[in-house]
Amino acid sequence: MINKICCIGAGYVGGPTMAVIAQKCPEIQVTVVDINETRIARWNDEDVNNIPIYEPGLVDVVRETRGRNLFFSTEVDKAIEEAEMIFISVNTPTKTYGVGKGMAADLKYIELCARQIARVAKTDKIVVEKSTLPVRTARAIKDILDNTGNGVKYQILSNPEFLAEGTAVEDLHAPDRVLIGGDTQTEEGRNAMQALVDVYAHWVPKGQILTTNVWSSELSKLTANAFLAQRVSSINSLSELCEVTEADVDEVAKAIGMDSRIGPKFLKSSVGFGGSCFQKDILNLVYIAKSYGLDEVADYWEQVIIMNDHQKARFASKLISTLYNTVSGKKIAFLGWAFKKDTNDTRESAAIYVADILLSEQAKLSVYDPKVQEHQIYFDLDYLATRSEEENKNGVTVTNDPYESCKDAHAIAVLTEWDEFKDLDWQRIYDNMLKPAFVFDGRRLLDGDQLKNIGFSYHTIGK
Ligand code: NAI
Repeated sequence: MINKICCIGAGYVGGPTMAVIAQKCPEIQVTVVDINETRIARWNDEDVNNIPIYEPGLVDVVRETRGRNLFFSTEVDKAIEEAEMIFISVNTPTKTYGVGKGMAADLKYIELCARQIARVAKTDKIVVEKSTLPVRTARAIKDILDNTGNGVKYQILSNPEFLAEGTAVEDLHAPDRVLIGGDTQTEEGRNAMQALVDVYAHWVPKGQILTTNVWSSELSKLTANAFLAQRVSSINSLSELCEVTEADVDEVAKAIGMDSRIGPKFLKSSVGFGGSCFQKDILNLVYIAKSYGLDEVADYWEQVIIMNDHQKARFASKLISTLYNTVSGKKIAFLGWAFKKDTNDTRESAAIYVADILLSEQAKLSVYDPKVQEHQIYFDLDYLATRSEEENKNGVTVTNDPYESCKDAHAIAVLTEWDEFKDLDWQRIYDNMLKPAFVFDGRRLLDGDQLKNIGFSYHTIGK
């Protein structure tokens, strides 16, 4: 029986996941720790609306559990020492240096966690990989943990998280499946797996809790993300063909999606996928395949990324060519900066890359996003290091009013599919724009016919 859980990493995964575990398992004390003091302070903010992650429904779960059996802290050692089960939910970004730069997952944060656990633990621990990790990482973690010489016994489990940002709470409450990988060959391994099964069994039907060996579990997460991203790139590749053949990509998607072997989900054409996971996990898969000499496997999956990059660049090019081949000095309104609706996460958002191209063409951008803060937008652009911080400041303004963003603009680019954009007063927007007034709908979100009737020159993807 598990009484105390610790989770290292209070991010988009650690925060919501542990909040739901605490909610569903009131007898378990769950402590989420992070080295980022600001983040922890926000999780502990008296006003629960100030928690650092925006997810529909999350505030309610945190309000119910925080201080009852859910705690946020920067005292990592203490939480490790007390817990019987430790989740590692730290970031695993793509490496930006050395061997595997731009492809391999950077495991330094994972290794630091393993070393910290090894240093601190005095009692046996079940260590759960919650972060998405390259297949065979559990081996490295075990090596570090088993070589401390202090007699503490560890079991390593892989329990990848399949939640989608924007629907995290819903996904955690009713997951399609929970995957638990462990050492199926030993009794200790099976017991550890059972302990984690028992946690999830508080609310997840037993049939949906899948147990496998640890390597299958690690690889399944990379595979799931690769398949999901592949569907987006597949439909996006056809969107370009639709545009030259008068086919409509939404009609094609509907027609194929009704085939039960294909299914209707994840067939929405767009300016390209973003988010912290798809690109990083596929690059990681490509890198692993290459490192085993499986070049064809690597090339196959790399094409998903190539197509996604093409889709983002193509959207920007189309906007520029439609605006008479120059956007220099022109105001372009950006509706949306988050990588998808219902999240404030901007990591790898298509908006960043489209903005970067337009800024290089000397456009003036005015960005509105309902949940993303101004400093984040500048941070994202500065991070690319394409131009100086000052140049980014000069090229981009951020507003908290969509009408202000669109006022006197030559064109509007819809980069995130926020529902509220559908309900804007488009006549008012049209009246206040320069003419011809262009809309480039990167999400196929708006009613194109309605916009054309108002007088807009409406352009979208795959039509
Ligand atoms: P995140 O960047 O939002 O959060 C990670 C947190 O870990 C940060 O707050 C960081 O300060 C903290 N951290 C790093 N090293 C630490 C250490 N040594 N001690 C204490 N805290 C430390 O990342 P996110 O999005 O939560 O992702 C975490 C993992 O989950 C990644 O491997 C990701 O691939 C995976 N994942 C992410 C999903 C998503 O939708 N964001 C979905 C499924 C999996």
